[in-house]
Amino acid sequence: MHIHKYERIWLVLGGMILVAFLLILGSYAFIVGTTPPSHLETVDAQTVRTTPPFDKPGLYKVGPNEYEAVMLGFTFGFAPNKMTIPLGATVHFLVTTPDVVHGLYIPNTNINMMLVPGHVNRFTHTFDKPGEYLILCHEYCGIGHQAMFATITVNDKKTA
Ligand code: CUA
Repeated sequence: MHIHKYERIWLVLGGMILVAFLLILGSYAFIVGTTPPSHLETVDAQTVRTTPPFDKPGLYKVGPNEYEAVMLGFTFGFAPNKMTIPLGATVHFLVTTPDVVHGLYIPNTNINMMLVPGHVNRFTHTFDKPGEYLILCHEYCGIGHQAMFATITVNDKKTA
């Protein structure tokens, strides 16, 4: 079979690029140990509503101006739905979902998580600006997706 010279060049080039990408991907996965941005923490989605700490979603004080937000994202809302924290508070988010894939996104922050059934996602953020922050689901999850939100109010006063 005759393959045109230019075609052969492109085939070889394409093959080389493919091998290069696989080598890069492989070295990151097996040598550097890069994994998807989750904490590889799992929970049974069927029983998560009765499994601690997700049986009692809420905002818990864990230190001086430091909180843990145990949250559930579900069709169609978040628990807890409203949180209030002092200015400068550091919040450790700990989130999962009992049903389908959702998102947890807070505009104007770096908080952007996927909520996947069976997986626990964590993120820590320090709220340095006062105001009301919207917590949005940014992954289409069904008929009530656009109504899935919660709020965090950051007071303009620091407390210990
Ligand atoms: Cu939950 Cu969209």
